Amino acid sequence: MRFIDACLGRPVDTTPVWVMRQAGRYLPEYRALRETADFLAMCHRPELAAEATLQPMRRYDLDAAIIFSDILIPVEAMGMTVEFVPEPRLPKPVRTREDVAALREPDPHSATGFVMDALSRVRAALPADKALIGFAGAPFTLATYMIEGGGSREFLNAKSMMYNDPGLFRDLLARIADATVPYLAAQVDAGANAVQVFDSWGGALSPDDWRAFALPAARSVVSRVRRPGVPVIYFLNGIGGVAEDLASVGADVVGVDFRTSLGDAIRRIGPAQPVQGNLDPAALLGPAGLVRERAAEVVAAGRAAAGHVFNLGHGIHRQTPPENVTALVDAVHAAGRRL
Ligand code: CP3
Repeated sequence: MRFIDACLGRPVDTTPVWVMRQAGRYLPEYRALRETADFLAMCHRPELAAEATLQPMRRYDLDAAIIFSDILIPVEAMGMTVEFVPEPRLPKPVRTREDVAALREPDPHSATGFVMDALSRVRAALPADKALIGFAGAPFTLATYMIEGGGSREFLNAKSMMYNDPGLFRDLLARIADATVPYLAAQVDAGANAVQVFDSWGGALSPDDWRAFALPAARSVVSRVRRPGVPVIYFLNGIGGVAEDLASVGADVVGVDFRTSLGDAIRRIGPAQPVQGNLDPAALLGPAGLVRERAAEVVAAGRAAAGHVFNLGHGIHRQTPPENVTALVDAVHAAGRRL
């Protein structure tokens, strides 16, 4: 598989491409499916999750599918109430030592077997040359949702716990990491060819705090999940302050957001580290010609790394014209062609 080869730094015929949030509301067929069920119900029903996963694969020549689910599914399995309105809301946030102690360490099969079922269905339906990606939230990012009770701008509840009771905050990160390791391992057993760990809000920390809290927790997950031939991708949204430390996470691939140019990111992370990224998803709101130009620039920059998987620097926006993704995928495959 071209995607797996690039992740492992092996030779490829061209640069592989997939798109964060490729299954989602910018696709009319997703919106039609979503009319029949709410988001959480779609996640819980393997036939619907599998269908949503496959929708972008039918439309585009993407090199990988990512399973349709959410980073908060295992948080629900840990015993918290999770709602989507459509932004995530957790009405009983974790604030005290008792709250942390009350969290369960779920068995991934009995608590989240629907995710594994969806993965096996998708793996069975995908062509052999297309990879299937499983995923989980990184401990810090999940902790922000659990402590804040939803999304946040400043993360002041989470940071208050971190600064007032670092021991408790570390205990929470460890509990999340311990639940995430078997969850990701079960996804690989069910058919995932690679897994991505999303640290979507890790960039909200100062560099020192990322190194002190988020990094060890992410490394704990990555080191326990890694196995030969199954790449682990660590995506940090906001690498700018800590690029030099990213190789120490120990992932096969480091995902790069769009606020750092890919060339600078590769120099700072180190060219031996395969990378993924990093076109600004908003570029897809521009004309197709611009999408092609910008995609080719990212592909050219990616050649400096031992391996490059093309992606956006964060999730695709719902206003994206679907035909711009066709232009994007074609441009990446054309610009990435090796002679
Ligand atoms: O990438 C894919 O196509 C696979 C599916 C996927 C979803 N969420 C579907 C989704 C993945 C990989 C995620 C991960 C996720 N969820 C992250 C990490 C990625 C990132 O963006 O940084 C985060 C932070 C979440 C939490 C979350 N879930 C938010 C903030 C929202 C609201 C977003 C919005 O635009 O309203 C969700 C809901 C969600 N997750 C939707 C989808 C398709 C929209 C729900 C709907 O259909 O109403």
